Amino acid sequence: MAYSLGDILLDATTLQKRIGELAAEIDAAYPDTPQPLVLLTILKGSIFFSTDLSRALRNNVEFEFIAVRSYGGGTTSSGSVELVKDVSMQLRDRDVLMVEDIIDTGNTTSYLYDHIARHEPRSLRLATLLNKPDRRERDVRIDFCGFTIPNEFVVGFGLDMAGVYRNLPDIRLVQDDGVPTEQGANAIASS
Ligand code: PRP
Repeated sequence: MAYSLGDILLDATTLQKRIGELAAEIDAAYPDTPQPLVLLTILKGSIFFSTDLSRALRNNVEFEFIAVRSYGGGTTSSGSVELVKDVSMQLRDRDVLMVEDIIDTGNTTSYLYDHIARHEPRSLRLATLLNKPDRRERDVRIDFCGFTIPNEFVVGFGLDMAGVYRNLPDIRLVQDDGVPTEQGANAIASS
């Protein structure tokens, strides 16, 4: 099928305002940490959320990164989670905040809770910019949530489709144009 960019779901101003509110919530939740909070950025989708969130926080943070993949080239989760790049810093006894762009089926988050818990952090919480509860397959605890969205495929502000559109400043819907094609990612057209 061919796809094109649809309407803006969340514009850049709305995103930044909510990120500021989330930062205040997060600061309040970590009033007294012995060491800086570790922002565990889940690559690649949460890059912009994580960096914007970090600059809105008053608490000191350290960055760590982990890369996982649950989607192939399409618009639905494959169900299995592949660890692409593991953490390298010591997380034992640290306050770790996992930063996600979106929770969809919950499979990625469920995997990451188990994976990071093995490092025995002092605390482990989750912030997500978007929550899409309609497609949930696993219950996952979300400590800080930006927006609950309907069951629509969205791109922009870190979220991709077949690798592109991450750099859009707004979060936009993807429209299925209903045209069969064998060109895969090349069939995506911008409007
Ligand atoms: C997306 C997103 C989450 C995950 C959520 O990542 O960033 O990590 O899917 O889906 P789930 O709740 O159904 O597991 P993706 O695997 O597409 O990798 P990316 O962040 O590199 O785009």
